[in-house]
Amino acid sequence: MRGIILAGGSGTRLRPITAVSSKQLLPVYDKPMIYYPLSVLMLAGIREILVISSPEHLEAYQRLLGDGRRLGLDLEYAEQDRPRGLADALCVGREFVGDESLALILGDNIFYGHALISVLRTEIERLDGCTLFGYPVADPERYGVASVDDAGRITSLVEKPADPASNLAVTGLYFYDNEALDMAARLTPSARGELEITDLNNQFVEQGRARLVSLGRGNAWFDTGTHESLLDAALFVRVLAQRQGVRLACIEEAAYRMGFIDAEQLGVLGKESGSSSYGRYLRELAGV
Ligand code: DAU
Repeated sequence: MRGIILAGGSGTRLRPITAVSSKQLLPVYDKPMIYYPLSVLMLAGIREILVISSPEHLEAYQRLLGDGRRLGLDLEYAEQDRPRGLADALCVGREFVGDESLALILGDNIFYGHALISVLRTEIERLDGCTLFGYPVADPERYGVASVDDAGRITSLVEKPADPASNLAVTGLYFYDNEALDMAARLTPSARGELEITDLNNQFVEQGRARLVSLGRGNAWFDTGTHESLLDAALFVRVLAQRQGVRLACIEEAAYRMGFIDAEQLGVLGKESGSSSYGRYLRELAGV
């Protein structure tokens, strides 16, 4: 499976910020936002990852993450010349994905949960069609909203409904079979001029091949699309770090735990991070 991170600067609700900087380069507490989705893909075992962003921001990502080799990853980059919609990521990434399956994750989504990683790995194994991840929220009208039958099959999927049929928001992590590439290529723009991810997902719903896995209790999910949720996410990350010593989205640690790099390589990364607590944490983990 190959991974795509969609990290354009187009988030409409954070416009005053994204006009000067891609939102996903903003820090969430102590690290750039893009580290969070990147670490999710890594912990799911995905090493070949394409970062898609707007032309003016792509270089900043390349400077930040490079070719990924120091993390045992293979990172590539592609431009989306304007926000053509979330499903456009499958068109931009078509060649990169080739004949594999894919995981698309939005660059502004943050996931945390202690069983999350095993859930993701299980879902990669059993993927047939598309798998979405739902999260119960108090304000479903802000998101894609799903209804499911007892087997977890999605029976309806509506983007930002005025009158939501359930409280299950569809999070910004999507697993697809390779055929999704052809389906995305055939999509036509919606009234707002975008290739809608919900239109793509609804094709799988019609085939009875769209599964929703609910990330309920024991998991946290943030779509950092508003100033409030961005601050909430930062405070959540800080509480975990300060009260429990848990570092979320430490990509160097993820690379080490996944066996993408060894202790010696981790030690080098720790030294590069200097005397910061982040660097100290990495060096302790590496035992140097
Ligand atoms: O976060 C989950 C939600 O994400 C889902 O529940 C919705 O179904 C899905 O449509 C999406 O809703 P948003 O309103 O959060 O999408 P937004 O347009 O804000 O885009 C999400 C991120 O993707 C944002 O950081 C900008 C980036 N983006 C967006 C578009 C449309 C791009 O890089 N390129 C694009 O063309």
